Amino acid sequence: MKKILVTGGLGYIGSHTVVELQNTGFEVVIIDDLSNSSKEVLSRITSITGIKPDFEEIDLKNKQAVEQFFKNYSIDGVIHFAASKAVGESVNEPLKYYENNITTLTYVLKEMIANQVPNFIFSSSCTVYGQADELPITENAPTKPAESPYGATKKMGEIIIEDTTKVTALKAIALRYFNPIGAHETSKIGELPLGVPQNLVPFVVQTAAGIRECLSVFGDDYNTPDGTAVRDYIHVVDLAKAHIVALNRLLNNENKATCEFFNIGTGKGSSVLDVINAFEKATNKKVNYKIVARRAGDITAAYADTSLANNELGWKAELGLEEALASSWKWQESLK
Ligand code: WQD
Repeated sequence: MKKILVTGGLGYIGSHTVVELQNTGFEVVIIDDLSNSSKEVLSRITSITGIKPDFEEIDLKNKQAVEQFFKNYSIDGVIHFAASKAVGESVNEPLKYYENNITTLTYVLKEMIANQVPNFIFSSSCTVYGQADELPITENAPTKPAESPYGATKKMGEIIIEDTTKVTALKAIALRYFNPIGAHETSKIGELPLGVPQNLVPFVVQTAAGIRECLSVFGDDYNTPDGTAVRDYIHVVDLAKAHIVALNRLLNNENKATCEFFNIGTGKGSSVLDVINAFEKATNKKVNYKIVARRAGDITAAYADTSLANNELGWKAELGLEEALASSWKWQESLK
């Protein structure tokens, strides 16, 4: 059995990926520092798959701990989620983001190389494209100056990885996520709400649950069909499965370059109002909202051209917007 390290494996996307790894016969060891997750997720993963992943509570900023980990475990590949990811927070605390997202990445890569672990999957983001000049967005679209330190760490992370694969045995795939939403069908894992949600779907769900008074729709004067901003919302389980396909591509030496990039989205754009309407249709719950001013830094529209992932990876999103939103609601109800 191949053993895979999942850093940030108790987080939202990480935990869903651990479940899919175990479902496809991989042994998993999770590193998480619990700074933005809960150890309870470990037992929830176990209750879904019947297999308890190994777990090490390690802060990846602790270089010695990272070195020791790779001495203790024989690993076949790494899926690297561990990072801070709040766009707004990153503007106010850039050094926290550069240390936690970049320094730690270099420690993991160095130990992988020192211990002959060649296969690396990186959690990247469509944020590297900024407001793309053309839609849908292909992997050849130029990356744009980052709108936030968070976005800068994704761009820098890709550069660090690509440069390293050029001169070492490391092989890497960066998955550029569009907007992950939804929760596992068992409602045992999902997006854990910590504080006031910054992202749209958790805020919609909490408004419908009466936790939030009213959803603010950030602007209806964009150059889009209904004036609200458009994004590509992908079910987190579809996203998790993309990691397995990418990992197998590296394990089977099917990669066509030492560092590859894939857009992971549905290829469909949905506006904020589309999401509200789809949520109300899927759950029969009303969402109280008001239109307010645009949020600084937001782009008008982003949705993926997924043909490279479809044709090269043989991966395609299977779950639709309503199904994802219904799963988010079911997850919210389970938190009561
Ligand atoms: C989606 C749309 C908002 C909240 C961010 C990160 C990106 C990735 C996904 C990590 C936008 C609107 C939102 C609200 C609203 N994260 N909105 N009211 O900004 O597309 O992407 O999360 O990788 O890197 O940038 O996602 O969910 O915050 O916003 O109207 O209360 O919903 O303006 O148009 P975003 P989001």
